Amino acid sequence: MRAIRCVNYGEPSGLRVENLDEPVPGPGQVLLDVEAAGLGYVDALFVRGTYQVKMPLPFVPGSEVAGVIEAVGEGVSSDLIGSRVMALSPRGALVEKVAIPAAVCSTIPDEMSAEAAAGFIVSYCTALYGLENCGRLQPGETVLVLGAAGGVGMAAIDVARAMGARVIAAASTQEKRDAAKAHGADMVLDYSDPEWRKALDALVEKRGVNVVYDPVGGAYSETAFRCLAPGGRHLVVGFANGEIPKLPLNLALLKRASLVGVDWGGEIRANPGANGPLLHKLSEWVEAGKIHPEPTASFPLEEAGSVLQRLLERKMIGKPVIRIAS
Ligand SMILES: NC(=O)c1ccc[n+]([C@@H]2O[C@H](COP(=O)([O-])OP(=O)(O)OC[C@H]3O[C@@H](n4cnc5c(N)ncnc54)[C@H](OP(=O)(O)O)[C@@H]3O)[C@@H](O)[C@H]2O)c1
Repeated sequence: MRAIRCVNYGEPSGLRVENLDEPVPGPGQVLLDVEAAGLGYVDALFVRGTYQVKMPLPFVPGSEVAGVIEAVGEGVSSDLIGSRVMALSPRGALVEKVAIPAAVCSTIPDEMSAEAAAGFIVSYCTALYGLENCGRLQPGETVLVLGAAGGVGMAAIDVARAMGARVIAAASTQEKRDAAKAHGADMVLDYSDPEWRKALDALVEKRGVNVVYDPVGGAYSETAFRCLAPGGRHLVVGFANGEIPKLPLNLALLKRASLVGVDWGGEIRANPGANGPLLHKLSEWVEAGKIHPEPTASFPLEEAGSVLQRLLERKMIGKPVIRIAS
């Protein structure tokens, strides 16, 4: 079967398609005929070997898959054969077939394409966990989403809107701001302008924002924290900018504001049952048309390496999905 494997840490653009043996589902597993795989910034860091945790070599990059169950291992009902499912795959995503535990598979809502499903779990569950559980976002509040045209940012726009919030999307280029607006943002902001706080003040008439959703870090974070209204919550989601910012703590005191870490992956590892309710609520929202998790772009397997490279180079818009029909 066709697959992409990382055998040495390095630039993702060096990844090539190769042939691997098809896996056989073991006890408790299903064999998934993978239709699509979702990629994120973290997958590119794993290939470079620069993420805080190193992936042992060799490994198949990616962790989000959607497809059809083709066979089942011992102890799994054969009724599942033919089911359309999405999953976080512990064995990588850029493969035509993967054997994964039946327990990690969730039914894809009828309204959702395999490509949308492959890009759904990580970014949307992080958004709902971040905005609802960590950020206590209320209807009518204003959210500032940094890196808003990235995969995680786009999902945050969609989920915040579904929760009844007003969304200001910050992104570095006009093309990215247009994409964020098309995905539902109420207002957009060019945060590559050093004076962007003044532009934000004008948008919110100096009232500040209630929640900052921050998957970017770097110098953007302190400015964003300074934009919080009293009682605001700054959600620390990631550091795509590469630099982990430091914050003068007097700002938290002066604003009566909170800095909240959003580690969705850590949460579901510590509490394996915690993701079910998130995914259930999000699936209901898809069925009701409240959220619209369509990927902005999809690519063939051969381009997976260049897609990961473009994520590192800040050139991607939205959540990239790789089509892997066998
Ligand atoms: N906490 C969690 O549970 C969780 C879950 C999933 C992902 N994450 C983290 O969330 C972050 C974003 O992931 P993603 O998949 O959405 O990535 P992405 O699609 O690449 O989006 C990241 C955005 O960050 C901005 N950015 C600013 N400086 C950048 C730089 N030097 N290089 C690259 N991008 C830069 C870019 O927007 P502009 O060009 O507009 O600035 C880009 O669109 C990552 O750090 C990831 O590890 C966290």
